[in-house]
Amino acid sequence: MDTAPPQSLHAAIAQDRTDHLNRTPAFALPPDVIYLVGHSLGPATHNALAQVQDTAVKAWAQGLVRSWNDAGWMDLAANASGRIAPLIGAKPSEVTVTDSVSVNLFKLAAAALKLARTPTIVVETDEFPTDAYVAESLASLAGTRFGTAPPESGMDALEKGGILIKSAVNYRTAARADMLAFEAAARANGAQIVWDLSHAAGATWLDLTAAGANLAAGCTYKYLNGGPGSPGYVFVSERISESLRNPIAGWFGHADPFAFEPAYTPLPGAARFSTGTPPILSLAALEAALSVFEGIDSAALAAKTHGLTALAAQRAASMGLNVIQSHSRGAHVAIQHTDGYAIVKALAERGVLADFRTPDTIRLGFAPLYLSFAQVWRAMDILQDVLTTETFKQARFGLRAKVT
Ligand SMILES: Cc1ncc(COP(=O)(O)O)c(C=O)c1O
Repeated sequence: MDTAPPQSLHAAIAQDRTDHLNRTPAFALPPDVIYLVGHSLGPATHNALAQVQDTAVKAWAQGLVRSWNDAGWMDLAANASGRIAPLIGAKPSEVTVTDSVSVNLFKLAAAALKLARTPTIVVETDEFPTDAYVAESLASLAGTRFGTAPPESGMDALEKGGILIKSAVNYRTAARADMLAFEAAARANGAQIVWDLSHAAGATWLDLTAAGANLAAGCTYKYLNGGPGSPGYVFVSERISESLRNPIAGWFGHADPFAFEPAYTPLPGAARFSTGTPPILSLAALEAALSVFEGIDSAALAAKTHGLTALAAQRAASMGLNVIQSHSRGAHVAIQHTDGYAIVKALAERGVLADFRTPDTIRLGFAPLYLSFAQVWRAMDILQDVLTTETFKQARFGLRAKVT
């Protein structure tokens, strides 16, 4: 799966000529931007924009309530789920698009309480904060214990047989978890893992079935290009779905919502983890955007990501930057620098969009369907220039915006 990084712009351009994964024409990216923030908000696809326009102007404004049937709104979530399934190594019936990651983590961890040997919920301290907020509030509601574990020590926490909420790829460091080893440890100890796939799905290798995973949630607005605030998804293995109950059982998880029955009968499979009316405009965008992955071989996708990140990491290291290393990396490269925020702002002024995570981490994300090796080479040239000329020290680059 390895792709050796090119060692010159010329070699990068040559590598791009043999790249069968390049889907740049499908994306509505501004031509003067090198977009290294697919790990935060994936760019729009042309067909998603057209679909939103069509859904709003025709289906909503003209079709009105008839569109639930006539425009297939009731099938949108299942269609989008079916497109996500092969990207994470799941069957369509094991995935359902619904709610946000935060809400879905809550639902899955709550459902897992009855499966785990002990009901403690553990989150490593360097996880995306919402994961811990959700775990702590669930534990307090359920009258059970919330615990934290030091970074990368979640495997030890599994020995106690509780529930671990764990990212497949860490949002800050990009460290990839060995899902197979984690799941083996969970099985051996009667523990359960709820995977957070937010920074993994759509750009890295994921095979939840092969890993033996039971439960996972992820977002669609990063590498899956669903658009700002597009709904998340849950994965529930078919081995356990029929035995689980959605703790926020709502009518969209009911087997026959328009029967308006007083008793709750869940849908089969992961779909029982749906709750309320889906956000149709977002779902329409997501379903269209996901078509960009059709016919894409996940292994090839992951190999290109690996090549792009290896190139960026190698060039950053050669500039003397402190690149966070780990045994295995996801789709972004994390660089620690005390002036990280100002550097990100200075890069943006030169058309290279990256982001910053407090206190000192620059994140450069590498989505394989619209980034070329030549673009990455150029972005790293610009980074080098920003550092050598110390442009980032200009006062205007230090002013913090609300969203970093
Ligand atoms: C790893 C991770 N988990 C959870 C979340 C929160 O997702 P949501 O806002 O959809 O609840 C994010 C958001 O960026 C994230 O990166």
